[in-house]
Amino acid sequence: MSNNDLTMKFLRDMILTVDGPAGSGKSTTAQALSERLGLTYLDTGAMYRAVTWKVLQSGIDPDDREAVTRIAEETSLEMEIRDGKPVLIVDGEPAGSEIRGPEVSGTVSPVSTHPGVRRAMVRIQRKIGNRGGIVAEGRDTGSTVFPFAHVKIFLVADMEARTRRRVKQLDQMGITQTKDEIRSNLVKRDEIDSGREHSPLVRPVGAFVVDTSGITIEEQVRLIDEITRKEAARLGTLYIPKGKRNPVSRGHSFLFTICRDMIRFFEWLLYGIKVHGSENLRFAESFFFASNHISYYDPPFVGSTFKRELWIVAKKELFQNRVIGWFLRNVNAIPIDREGFTRATLKAIDKAFEAGDSLLMFPEGTRSKNGRLKRFKPGIGMIAYRSGKSIVPTYIAGTDALKDCFLRKRRLEVRIGRPIRIPEEYETDDRKKDYDTLSMMIYEAMKMLEDETYA
Ligand code: DC
Repeated sequence: MSNNDLTMKFLRDMILTVDGPAGSGKSTTAQALSERLGLTYLDTGAMYRAVTWKVLQSGIDPDDREAVTRIAEETSLEMEIRDGKPVLIVDGEPAGSEIRGPEVSGTVSPVSTHPGVRRAMVRIQRKIGNRGGIVAEGRDTGSTVFPFAHVKIFLVADMEARTRRRVKQLDQMGITQTKDEIRSNLVKRDEIDSGREHSPLVRPVGAFVVDTSGITIEEQVRLIDEITRKEAARLGTLYIPKGKRNPVSRGHSFLFTICRDMIRFFEWLLYGIKVHGSENLRFAESFFFASNHISYYDPPFVGSTFKRELWIVAKKELFQNRVIGWFLRNVNAIPIDREGFTRATLKAIDKAFEAGDSLLMFPEGTRSKNGRLKRFKPGIGMIAYRSGKSIVPTYIAGTDALKDCFLRKRRLEVRIGRPIRIPEEYETDDRKKDYDTLSMMIYEAMKMLEDETYA
């Protein structure tokens, strides 16, 4: 495939996210982009609005978490193209203009704070968008729904510009509301959308911030179009097509390579290990792998599924015995203090990446007793961000009951997610917040793999 063909391939399959507060110009931008790039438009706000409309129709109290969640779970939502325009289909019928009216606008934020509602919507959105070829628009599409989106855009605009746009938008729909009413609705929604515990409105790490206050829609769209094409071209140069040898797959540590290949062989022979998503690794770049942790077998079993020289972070107590310590160091283990990252650990991580190798970490810190993903230990967001590498979420299942997997009564499974990429030119203005957001994004991406495992 020529470079141009590869760029086109990535453009066709890309996931773009456009997030930002109400009135920042998301819908217009996302729609125009989807037309220009030939991608499907996914309006996530319309989904929350459709559920809110149903809640209002049924007379349920919008604060009744269970009843509202039930409605969200029962609603069928799809995106279809009708007369050349993307339309949200709600329970088989195109969504009406009521979902844009003031009644819905006044209630949609509280409805969309319910975790059950969010879970139901995110599940549908991922089902529609996971294959790629979409422009998703909303509040959390780049942070929670598709943390691995190829291009993430975060739109901002001053209150004056946002109010002006909303007035115009409502006017066109024949809905009259005073400027003050609109402004106070925007302020109130900002507060609720940014303050909620589950997937709040945040700038996703790696997102391009575009201030739309003083620029036209055309300028906005052209800018994002450019960013997208540039990223598609960059991915095209990193991509290693099937059948071609990936230069980063060659190991240099003899002991590591021997041990890895032996483990791979036994996994295949005894446990019939199934690896999903290896195609996500077909890039000539070193990765920061983040995996769930359910058993002592995870480091060797997860680590050996990637065909690359890899360093694995392991608790420092394991290195106390001199012989074992020597062995672990020679199969690329890096000691870590459970209490936090020491300078020695950070230095060892830097050295691994400098050598062009990859790293595997278990951000939960200790094994999960019930087999489900636990909260992360602090530090993962910082380490991942600091590495500058693309972060690959992975998920292992089966090692906690290894005897059931012996001779394939049950399969061992490893799922490899899409890389979460942070563009080189990305700059953070609030480090601490970005570390937390990145940690949440990695968690969400791993949770998605867990959902696939137990679907
Ligand atoms: O973009 P919009 O104004 O149509 O969105 C309506 C509301 O839906 C917004 O106030 C918050 C909610 N929403 C959300 O919580 N998450 C999304 N991804 C999209 C919208």
